[in-house]
Amino acid sequence: MTKEILRVEKLNKFYGKRQILFDVNFSIRQGEVLALLGPSGSGKSTLIRCLNGLEQFSGGSLFFAGQKVVTNEKSWQQLRQKIGMVFQSYDLFPNLTVLDNILLGPLKVQKKDRKQAEQEAIALLDRVGLAEYTKAYPRQLSGGQKQRIAIIRALALHPELMLFDEVTASLDPEMVRGVLEIIKELSEKDNMTMIIVTHEMNFAEQIADRVLFLDQGHVLEETAGKQFFASAQTERARDFLESMKF
Ligand SMILES: Nc1ncnc2c1ncn2[C@@H]1O[C@H](COP(=O)(O)OP(=O)(O)OP(=O)(O)O)[C@@H](O)[C@H]1O
Ligand SMILES: [Mg+2]
Repeated sequence: MTKEILRVEKLNKFYGKRQILFDVNFSIRQGEVLALLGPSGSGKSTLIRCLNGLEQFSGGSLFFAGQKVVTNEKSWQQLRQKIGMVFQSYDLFPNLTVLDNILLGPLKVQKKDRKQAEQEAIALLDRVGLAEYTKAYPRQLSGGQKQRIAIIRALALHPELMLFDEVTASLDPEMVRGVLEIIKELSEKDNMTMIIVTHEMNFAEQIADRVLFLDQGHVLEETAGKQFFASAQTERARDFLESMKF
C-alpha cells in the first residue's frame, strides 16, 4: 500500500450554533483520487476548505503524511505549499501577467531561483497548451484558459495533494473538457493525489478511486468509485445520482 497522505478524524464544523459537518472521517493515500459528492449544501466546500485551513474546524483532527496538523496560521502557510487548491473562481491577480501569477508562490513563498522557476512555469504552460500566453494578462484569457492557469499555479509549488472544488462549474460547456482532461492527466501521468468536488458525474465516474458521499454534513457512504456509480449503497446516494441525470 502507498503511504497515507491525509487522514481526517471526527471533523466537526459549526457556523455559529448551526452544525455543518458531523464527525467526518476518511483518509487518502498517495496516488488516490477521492470524489466528494453530495447535494448542494451538504458541506462539500466547507469540508474541502477545512483541509487547507481556509475554514477553521470546530473539532476533530487532521493528519498530513502521518503528522498531526497544528492549526495555527503559520503551519497552515507551510502546509498550503503541499496542498494545492483550485476553486470555481480562478482568482488570478489581474495586474500580473500569466507568468508572474504562476511565479508568485515559487519565488515569494518558496524562495526558489527565478531562472529555474521560470523554466518550470514555462514547461507547465506548454503542457496545458498555453505557452504563447506567458506575457498575457488574465483579462485576455477565456474562463477555461484562466482555470488551466489556476491549476498550473497550484502545481508550480509541487504539492503532494490537490483539492479541486467545482473547477468547471462556471465555465462554458465547450471549456469544460479541456480543464477536466488536465485533471485526468494529472492523475494518470503524474499519479497526483486528489480530492475532487464536481457535478460532472461522468468525469467523477472515470476518475474516482473512491467516493465519499455527503448529505447534510454526514458521510452517508464511502464506496469504491466503480461500485458507487453502478450500485451505491444508500438510497439517498442512488436518488442523488438519478437527479444528476438529465
Ligand atoms: N460562511 C458561512 N456562514 C454560515 N453558513 C455557511 C457558510 N458557508 C456555508 N454555510 C452553510 O453550510 C452548509 C454547507 O455549505 P457548503 O457550501 O459547504 O455546501 P456544498 O456541499 O459545497 O454546496 P454546493 O454544492 O452548493 O457548493 C450550507 O447550509 C451553507 O448555507
Ligand atoms: Mg460547494
